[in-house]
Amino acid sequence: MGESGTEPRKTLSIRDNRTGKDYEVDIHEGDVVRAMDLRQIKVNDDDFGMMSYDPAFTNTASTRSTITEIDGGNGILRYRGYPIEQLAEKSSFLEVAYLLLRGELPSQDELDDFVHNVTYHTYAHENIIKLLRGFRYDAHTMGIVISSVAALSTFYPEAKEIHDPENRWIQIIRLVAKMPTLAAFAYRHHRGLPYVYPENELSYTANFLNMLFRIGVRDYRPNPVLERALDVLFILHADHEQNCSATTMRTIGSSHADPYSALAGGMAALYGPLHGGANEAVLRMLTEIGSKDNIPDFMESVRNGDRRLMGFGHRVYKAYDPRASIIKKTAHEVFEVTGNNPLLEIALELEKIALQEEYFVKRNLYPNVDFYSGLIYQAMGFPVEMFPVLFAIPRTVGWLAQWEEMLEDKEQKIARPRQVYVGEGERDYIPVDRRG
Ligand code: CMC
Repeated sequence: MGESGTEPRKTLSIRDNRTGKDYEVDIHEGDVVRAMDLRQIKVNDDDFGMMSYDPAFTNTASTRSTITEIDGGNGILRYRGYPIEQLAEKSSFLEVAYLLLRGELPSQDELDDFVHNVTYHTYAHENIIKLLRGFRYDAHTMGIVISSVAALSTFYPEAKEIHDPENRWIQIIRLVAKMPTLAAFAYRHHRGLPYVYPENELSYTANFLNMLFRIGVRDYRPNPVLERALDVLFILHADHEQNCSATTMRTIGSSHADPYSALAGGMAALYGPLHGGANEAVLRMLTEIGSKDNIPDFMESVRNGDRRLMGFGHRVYKAYDPRASIIKKTAHEVFEVTGNNPLLEIALELEKIALQEEYFVKRNLYPNVDFYSGLIYQAMGFPVEMFPVLFAIPRTVGWLAQWEEMLEDKEQKIARPRQVYVGEGERDYIPVDRRG
């Protein structure tokens, strides 16, 4: 407390020991100070002023947001205030998509309308198929989908009208609707199979599974347990606040690029093995380990810093990732239908060791969303190349919600960080024949 009985002042006092000057800056909601408040701190009047330096944004908030809340220390994840556990148990992916995009759970009429609109925009222009045919037979499906999403921007030039909310909503519907189609087409291309067109009477996930796996039969109906499992996985992956790909989507969107181009960029950020590519990396790692006998050697290489235990660790969660707990439960439901994935045994053993060993405990390394999801996808018949794509389909909703929020936020401008230049000072050009 400040004066007796008064509230403490919400300010931070800074003394610049170079000059002996004192400054007072406001502390805002969320215990943040504005980096621009540091700019007044100068030695000389014509100095640029002080900046904060934060490579990889480990301690910098880039926005105020109302979409997703993570309390990493306590393993809490909420979309628009609703706990992820309740949504995964009671909701559907499209209902959650509406929640993330519109801010509230839909009424029955709003939900019916949304589902209808998404269902009736699932077809992609036939020229997209011509584009797909240009890829090599073994092209990675993530590369194919990133390219075809970017290509969609050329089919919808009106998507550039990003300041028109109605126009934005049409593009959002198109993207949510067409992502499974592009993903399934990429998979069929990869497998050398004919493309299967969307079927409007099926649910979002059943339609996706139909486009992926129907072959040689007129009617394909996926197992309802697998259909629901995929829906739950989609709910869990729908948003995760300001991660690498959401930040990329916002950054590209801040230059007022159309949403298809921005989303292709977000997807590219997701592709890396430290982000959404981790589920693929986990499966490759488990396959490489191959048997429980090889685990001690593998763990030794992790402890030595030669390898990372993929699917473990998180920038924000310093407790068990709540999504991983739900996925572990879903995995058992799926395996009842598909039979056990033999890699599960290795995964469970790795988790057991990691939760006890000092190296992992000291660094708060717990399983993240990617540790078990790949095992489910593999049991359902997906090749590893599809894993990051399966992440990108539901995350499309989160990227679009983040993009809309960024555009509506009066404080946002084109993203443009500063740098601390540490290179050479001015020097004269030297002709090539005089360079040592
Ligand atoms: N295996 C072994 N050691 C690890 C791991 C791991 N998976 N993750 C972090 N560490 C160690 C790291 O070597 C460092 O040790 P030291 O302090 O001795 O140098 C310490 O833990 C802190 O690591 P960091 O790299 O500073 O942590 P970060 O917050 O920058 O990285 C991460 C977060 C997710 C990139 C990292 O934990 C990682 O590479 N995990 C494996 C990849 C993975 O599973 N990614 C999926 C993330 S969840 C899905 C998503 O949201 O994209």
